Amino acid sequence: MIHTPTGLAGLLVASALVGCQAAAPANVGVTYYKDVRPILDNNCARCHTANGIAPSFDDPAVAVAEAPNMVARTEAGDMPPPAPLPGCRAYEDDDSYFLTDADKATIAAWSDAGAPLGDVTEAPAPWAARTIAPFDIEMHASAPYSPTFADGENDYRCFELDLNNDAAVYVTGFEALVDNPKIVHHVVLFNSNGVNLGDTTGGDPHEGFSCGGFGNSGWDFVSGWAPGGEPIAFPDGLGLKLKQGTQLVLQMHYYNSFEGADLEQDQSGYGLTTSSSVSNQVYQIPVGTYDFTIPANDAAYSSSFVFPWTYGDYQILGVFPHMHTRGSGFQYEIAHADASRTCLVDMNQWSFHNQVTALYDEPATITAGDAVSMTCTWDNAGNPNDLVWGEGTGDEMCFGFTYAAKVR
Ligand code: HEC
Repeated sequence: MIHTPTGLAGLLVASALVGCQAAAPANVGVTYYKDVRPILDNNCARCHTANGIAPSFDDPAVAVAEAPNMVARTEAGDMPPPAPLPGCRAYEDDDSYFLTDADKATIAAWSDAGAPLGDVTEAPAPWAARTIAPFDIEMHASAPYSPTFADGENDYRCFELDLNNDAAVYVTGFEALVDNPKIVHHVVLFNSNGVNLGDTTGGDPHEGFSCGGFGNSGWDFVSGWAPGGEPIAFPDGLGLKLKQGTQLVLQMHYYNSFEGADLEQDQSGYGLTTSSSVSNQVYQIPVGTYDFTIPANDAAYSSSFVFPWTYGDYQILGVFPHMHTRGSGFQYEIAHADASRTCLVDMNQWSFHNQVTALYDEPATITAGDAVSMTCTWDNAGNPNDLVWGEGTGDEMCFGFTYAAKVR
């Protein structure tokens, strides 16, 4: 069964869219600059960087002070935060989402040795975030905004972004341009389809308006970013169509994680690469369910559904899995007509704080007669209330936003 909640338009019309205490001999010569910094750059810098959402490990003093915590958090397995397992299907940059046992052992050996800095001349080249710039279209909220945390924690703020395109364009790549990473918890780009732009305060929607936790009804999800997220570039010749005069919405989720967060300002946006024509069109297909009730205090409740694929031949390019804070596992696969299965996403852990789009190294083929199957698992331990589908952070979701190219 598949459901398309009111906030998301119909299925195929959504086009607008170790042994870590390592033995002492291994400690010899392990230094921050030579050994640890390359690991931190590859696996942590997406979030742990200057002005990032988490303490900057580029700063040697911070890294040294955090060394024992790094060992504890990497051993506990919650840093780096959970991501889709690459053993299910290899995807871009998956090697930077998981630490190898050897990397964990290096960090532990370094910490055990007293976290020596070593020789600065052995440091790797400075880390830089990946980009798909130059952009063909760059859009930002029209004015800087300071968040208001009415519930103490969250501010969902939407900004209208007009493409002003006088002909259809095909988006070949997306990059969230996060202005103030310290307060930005996620960014979602929606196609408004021209509806529900603005709120009852009547202000200029380009300067921001309050909106639902997962957008307003009638909007289609186009792209999403959370701290550590990477830009998306579709394979050559593929693009997602935005029709003439498209009005997009930039949804910002600001999160109150430090004293004075409400005094910060942000003016984020999105950069797009585009093409005036493509060989095959990309569709953003929301696959999910809202037909679940997670019982109070249930520490491991799963909801599964199977949806027959009646739409013809597609290449699945990637998936953005989405649940809220109680998510604990996510499985998504193709059940082929010949009874074989193709794994699309397998997550045995979930972090609301690390939602990434897995863009596959090789697309997965799905044909008419196949089905898609999804299982979401939640941990509702300690909550005296049942949870159901909803747009608030306290409600739950079960979605795989699926980028698929139609095969002609
Ligand atoms: C997707 C973003 C992200 C990535 C990638 C990431 N972290 Fe974190 N990390 C965070 C956030 C956010 C916090 C603050 C909240 C918390 O403590 O959970 C944090 C906190 C920490 C802390 C505690 C800092 C403190 O003093 O409170 C340590 C230690 C840590 N991370 C280590 C690492 C290491 C080591 C890596 C890489 C192997 C890594 N993290 C990768 C987001 C990330």
